[in-house]
Amino acid sequence: MELEATFPKITTHVLQEMKLKQEKIAMLTAYDFSMARILDQAGIDIILVGDSASNVMAGHKTTLPITLNDMIYHASSVMRAVKRALVVVDLPFGTYQGDSKEALHSAIRIMKEAGANAVKLEGGEEIHESVERILTAGIPVMGHLGLTPQSIHKFGTYVVRATEEDEARKLVHDAHILEEAGCFALILEKIPAKLAGEVTQKVKIPIIGIGAGNQVDGQVLVLHDMLGITQEFSPRFLRRYHNLSEEIKGSVKSYIGDVKSVDFPNEREQY
Ligand code: KIV
Repeated sequence: MELEATFPKITTHVLQEMKLKQEKIAMLTAYDFSMARILDQAGIDIILVGDSASNVMAGHKTTLPITLNDMIYHASSVMRAVKRALVVVDLPFGTYQGDSKEALHSAIRIMKEAGANAVKLEGGEEIHESVERILTAGIPVMGHLGLTPQSIHKFGTYVVRATEEDEARKLVHDAHILEEAGCFALILEKIPAKLAGEVTQKVKIPIIGIGAGNQVDGQVLVLHDMLGITQEFSPRFLRRYHNLSEEIKGSVKSYIGDVKSVDFPNEREQY
């Protein structure tokens, strides 16, 4: 039986109900049609077309270089595959921070050209005008606080955020601002588990954590990290479910051997 006949399409309202029922939300990134189809068929709740595509798809050191056109390309590919999951797309660096009209224009392009279900923006009070303007167009917005990779040059490092009282207080304040503005959910990245748990209790919208412990409403990981396609990135919060990089290398080596030894193609593999 088709998955969508068994399980309902995930909407922002379904996520809100999941929080109320204390049913955990599972979210992963995807950037292309084939992977997105596998994730959707497996029953993932949210697919994030993250600007981590800048790292894992394009090989950049940070998320800053990826463009709006790149994100629309990745998001369109994902949308062609997905039937059930809610698809959230990152607004890339430089397309929403300075000017709320530009933010709305960027979000509209993602919704119109890719057919996405929602957008995600990094930051709190500083970007609340952009969040509010996007919401006026009826576009669902997910917030992202804590370690916000688009600000890596300000932080200077990828260490745990909000361990000091001032930063923790600002994070709670920002979470309330984003909730009041109308965000349907928030990502909390790499912050102490206790603080993430407090925010989850204090706000009514779902909180999805990455490196934020298990007292939140759901979890997100970068697909290439959890499958072991990327090898060099090994933070403590990452659980690797596979070592795909080694498996793929093994298959490629077998193929090379078969080609060189003229074992491939055999009689049955030709016309
Ligand atoms: O771009 C991304 O993959 C993200 C996740 C790390 C949450 O923002």
